[in-house]
Amino acid sequence: MLLVLIYKYINPIFLSWFGRTYNLYFYTLLVLVGCLYIFGLYRRNVYINRNKLKQFILMNHLYETEKTYNGKKVITDSLELDWIDNKDCIVIRAYKTGDLLDDIVSEIGDRLQAFLKLKLIRTKDEAFLTDYVFEVVSDKRLFFFNSDEKKYINNTMIQLTEKIQYDVSKVSHGLTVGSTGSGKTMFINSKILAYAKMKADIFICDPKNADLSLLKYVEGFPQSHIGVSHAQICRILRLVNEEMERRYEQYFSNKLAFGKTFIDFDLSPVVIFFDEVTAFMKTADKKMSSEAKEYLYALIMKGRQVGCFAEISIQRPDAEFLDGAIRDQLGCRVALGKMSKDGYRMIFDTADFEYYDSDTIGSGYITITGQITEPTYFETPFFSDDFDFIEELEVYYAGNIFESEE
Ligand SMILES: Nc1ncnc2c1ncn2[C@@H]1O[C@H](COP(=O)(O)OP(=O)(O)OP(=O)(O)O)[C@@H](O)[C@H]1O
Ligand SMILES: [Mg+2]
Repeated sequence: MLLVLIYKYINPIFLSWFGRTYNLYFYTLLVLVGCLYIFGLYRRNVYINRNKLKQFILMNHLYETEKTYNGKKVITDSLELDWIDNKDCIVIRAYKTGDLLDDIVSEIGDRLQAFLKLKLIRTKDEAFLTDYVFEVVSDKRLFFFNSDEKKYINNTMIQLTEKIQYDVSKVSHGLTVGSTGSGKTMFINSKILAYAKMKADIFICDPKNADLSLLKYVEGFPQSHIGVSHAQICRILRLVNEEMERRYEQYFSNKLAFGKTFIDFDLSPVVIFFDEVTAFMKTADKKMSSEAKEYLYALIMKGRQVGCFAEISIQRPDAEFLDGAIRDQLGCRVALGKMSKDGYRMIFDTADFEYYDSDTIGSGYITITGQITEPTYFETPFFSDDFDFIEELEVYYAGNIFESEE
């Protein structure tokens, strides 16, 4: 506005005084003001956010003062905070500088949460700093209810929440850990449905003969695909291993197969859902358990390329079973309900991580190899009361793609 007024009324006067060169000065000034304006807009948010952090520090007395000779109080030291805007979260970084304020750095999470009115989703404590991560675009839980719409998917994606999904051809095998009642079975059921929708062949190993073996009531689901006794479980593991080897031999034994996966050969996934693996390993006789272990490890180590997967669920993390090499091959790792710090460490291999207990049923933390590298809070798909899992599965199950000795 001011520039328009200058242009209209003052410019003619200056032009008559200084001649044409004035025009050059005027337009240079115009460009400069424009650039300053754009820069100001860009810095405005930074300024506002820094001001917010300053307010937070002042409100909570996160600084030290000293009296000067004339009795005036001056701030001599203060907590150092940084505001980092990420795609779907805000990180408030608190620096440790080796002074008395360092003790406070790892304790301000709850207060920051109340101050910013954002949900604190994780805290990462490192030697020189602590990161508080706040959710900005909140994720939404999926709801399964009885609808008429049933359709197969023509890819290998598993959708877990509105934001979290992964491709089993890239991130294969899963681990679900949670104490009794934490929602493991419900979560596993949602995965069974996801695999059924991609026309996978599904096998069940349920040594407790509990929830998973209820799949025997699914019409069309081969009974031979459900293992309850030790011998049945061992047989299923052997069968899937044989299928894995057969696929390697038939499709991947020449150089044309380089870099290809089962998708390139139009092969359907084959998946074993194995509940309480550790209980099985400990109760089966030695020969059988070592045979089963061998099959399971082979499947986990080399099943991905040919589309043979393992989905394992256990009540308690077990150091022996989750030894580094195996754990790292389990691409989608989930801890449901409340767990000890050691438990989380065994599953996610991340120390110095603050987990928040949630009372939401079926909630927990997840990592997905190469995609969600730090444990992230999530809620499993919710099964509404009118949703009949068995009935739904009956509609989709089209498995039994390879002959098993029926
Ligand atoms: N995603 C969910 N949707 C709806 N209800 C859920 C969900 N997760 C858990 N629940 C509720 O919590 C109960 C316990 O969940 P679930 O049976 O899955 O636990 P679990 O971890 O398998 O326990 P256990 O180890 O004893 O088998 C369910 O019966 C259900 O009422
Ligand atoms: Mg269960």
